Amino acid sequence: MVRIVETSVRDGHQSLLATRMTTEEVVRLCSIFDDVGYHAIEMWGGATFDAAMRFLNEDPWDRLREVKKVCRKTKLQMLFRGQNILGYRHYSDDVVDMFCKKSIENGIDIIRVFDALNDIRNLKQAVESTKKYGGECQIALSYTTSPVHTIEYFVNLAKDIEKLGADSLCIKDMAGILLPEDATELVSVLKREISIPLELHSHATAGVSEMTYLAAIRAGVDIVDTSLSPLSGGTAQPSTQALAAGLKGTKYDPKLDFDVLHEAEPEMTKIVDKYIRNGLLIPKSMEVNPNILTYQVPGGMLSNMIRQLSDQGAMDRYDEVLNEIPRVRKDLGYPPLVTPMSQMVGTQAVLNVLNGERYKMCTREVRDYLHGKYGKPAAPVNKVVRKKIIGFDDVITCRPADLLEPEFEKLKKRYADIAKSDEDVLSLALFENVASDFLKRKYGKQDNEYDEFEMYI
Ligand code: CO
Repeated sequence: MVRIVETSVRDGHQSLLATRMTTEEVVRLCSIFDDVGYHAIEMWGGATFDAAMRFLNEDPWDRLREVKKVCRKTKLQMLFRGQNILGYRHYSDDVVDMFCKKSIENGIDIIRVFDALNDIRNLKQAVESTKKYGGECQIALSYTTSPVHTIEYFVNLAKDIEKLGADSLCIKDMAGILLPEDATELVSVLKREISIPLELHSHATAGVSEMTYLAAIRAGVDIVDTSLSPLSGGTAQPSTQALAAGLKGTKYDPKLDFDVLHEAEPEMTKIVDKYIRNGLLIPKSMEVNPNILTYQVPGGMLSNMIRQLSDQGAMDRYDEVLNEIPRVRKDLGYPPLVTPMSQMVGTQAVLNVLNGERYKMCTREVRDYLHGKYGKPAAPVNKVVRKKIIGFDDVITCRPADLLEPEFEKLKKRYADIAKSDEDVLSLALFENVASDFLKRKYGKQDNEYDEFEMYI
């Protein structure tokens, strides 16, 4: 029997409708989902935290507590980026620890963490803290293809992940590029080499994910991630109902309750229709796009790049930029294209093409990356490129967070007027400007009205 994690209320709306589902909508759906028979419901973390405060004027911690009230049987799962948590830089260990503590206290059962570079030193604190506070810790390996991302590479990584103390392992195929034959091989080898449960997370973007899921299931994967049909397919996960129906009566049957799924679907359709009407769900994101198999560019990264190019009036350079991406990726040691690396590589490719000279300009993040501040890439970076950008500066080789001072208590003092709880301090730690605006509104510390216009940017 394969188990199912329902992702519509996290990755589904993050991938298809800019993470705009409201807490009321998420709670309404989760109250039905609780009776489906899922292994877990992923409903928190990723972009939901920032989007709740920034676009919905909602407290993400309230969402977690409200969902917990209606999910009595099913485990709740969240996703965060190890030492990056949900932001774009590395945080000190005390912030990571407190974030795990408060997530679990407020209702999370399973914490899935990953690192964009698969540098497991960046996951150590998250694993330790999750276990310390009684949570289940899943580590996801960021799947990508390159000359260095061989089966041996992933097996060694999986073994290290198991040794680190993860309760389960996930193959995180954020771009949806894992092909069926490769899934058969990868899952078979991992099932032989490690003993913790194995999960597969993919995206339907390229149109191959259902085939890949079936191949992985036949090869012995224990859990797969799917999204209820109105928010499935395209850049989101494959459909929950389709997969459950496809496996019905086989030895892999996930035994979901179809009556409950039939009840959930019209409820979700109503919600999704609203986002189609207000333009947040762009039909293009529902299309099958096999081109990503060539360029490996996840959906979100592609739309960012298109925006950067059209802002510069340079859409005619689109193909050049697409071709520059694999070159930048190689120069940077083949990082998997997942946040924050996808943004860094995408922006650098745009800069390299538009400036007419490679690495004439680069972002602070790329400079930090070359200083070693994000960890160790799978392959060495191009030394000529590094010298051009950071000269002969020292490159750190220790765990980046070892150089960070504790931050939590300092933030708590600094924001004593607007942070009423440790949860508020964490919101500020992760998204200082967004959270400080949000908390001022929440506690009536400023009278300028919330600008509703922003909600639909
Ligand atoms: Co995903």
